[in-house]
Amino acid sequence: EKGGYEHFMLKEIFEQPRSILDSMRGRMIAESDHLMMAGIREFENKFVNANRIIIVACGTSWHAGLVAEYLIEDLARIPVEVEYASEFRYRNPILNERDIVIAISQSGETADTLAALELAKSKGATIFGICNVVGSSIARATDAGAYTHAGPEIGVASTKAFTAQVTVLTLIAMIIGSKRGTLETTKLRELMVELETIPSKVEEALQLNEQIVQISEQYKDATNFLYLGRGYNFPVALEGALKLKEISYIHAEGYPAAEMKHGPIALIDEQMPVVVIATKDSSYEKIVSNVQEVKARKGKVIAVVTEGDTTIPAMADHVIEIPETSEHLMPLLSVIPLQLLSYHIAVMRGCNVDQPRNLAKSVTVE
Ligand code: M6R
Repeated sequence: EKGGYEHFMLKEIFEQPRSILDSMRGRMIAESDHLMMAGIREFENKFVNANRIIIVACGTSWHAGLVAEYLIEDLARIPVEVEYASEFRYRNPILNERDIVIAISQSGETADTLAALELAKSKGATIFGICNVVGSSIARATDAGAYTHAGPEIGVASTKAFTAQVTVLTLIAMIIGSKRGTLETTKLRELMVELETIPSKVEEALQLNEQIVQISEQYKDATNFLYLGRGYNFPVALEGALKLKEISYIHAEGYPAAEMKHGPIALIDEQMPVVVIATKDSSYEKIVSNVQEVKARKGKVIAVVTEGDTTIPAMADHVIEIPETSEHLMPLLSVIPLQLLSYHIAVMRGCNVDQPRNLAKSVTVE
């Protein structure tokens, strides 16, 4: 059942080229300019004329929502807010008929996310679901939606569901952007072509596994980790930290790299591993300075960079090279080494990777 892998989590990490492909299958074919999602088409006018999109989710799904905030605001120019479902539902939120609420949930059973959705529905918002489990409570409660086709995710730590969610959200941002005219046809085509290459680039990123085993050896006894990223890689930093916390029980924090100097920089010394996601994108120059700041305080830098980069490798203690892609799609690649890092560290520490203590696969109580 684990397909020869030692744990479901590892199997699921390695399934991502396939699960990403399955999540775009039938929805996008770059060559023939085909880009369509039934659930969006049904509510096309609502999406095109939306005042605001509010995303509600918990945990890793909330991180996928943060990636979507960058995507939708950039490509479709609709204001997006990403809310923890548990906070949103008790805040007496302001909502109306021109708001679209998107709930993201792998299981489709998360109690807070379901309740947030029901609340939004009662206030007249259009509610849209992105779920992995067909027929789940959230999928049934929505007006429309899109499934992620990740297949069953057994490991408590979410991996392939995250990349499937990001894939679907990318398609949604592209569709709305093209319908609203905020995403030019040439740019849209470029993105479609690039998105089609992602499964094979994820495959390449998975070949980093052996290198990551070695890095994990060196840091498995650390008591703290910091994860930094900017722009599209900021949510990836949060996700990397969450993965490490939940399965290895090492304290980890994810931060937008520029926030470091507003507090967490005080934590940095020679004992502190800092994972920096520093791929070539619009914030690259800025993150180079953040790496310098960490090195000036003797932090250990594990950098995830774009293949061929020479600037960051000259400063970092460890360099993990991933393939180049558009910054819009980078989270699909940059999260892969972080999933592997948390997995190997947890295994080396003797943790129960698939069933971490105190955690359940779906949180059906608030
Ligand atoms: O099933 P959901 O996507 O609604 O679950 C949300 C969170 O409980 C979930 O992502 C949790 O944070 C994972 N264990 C993260 O790996």
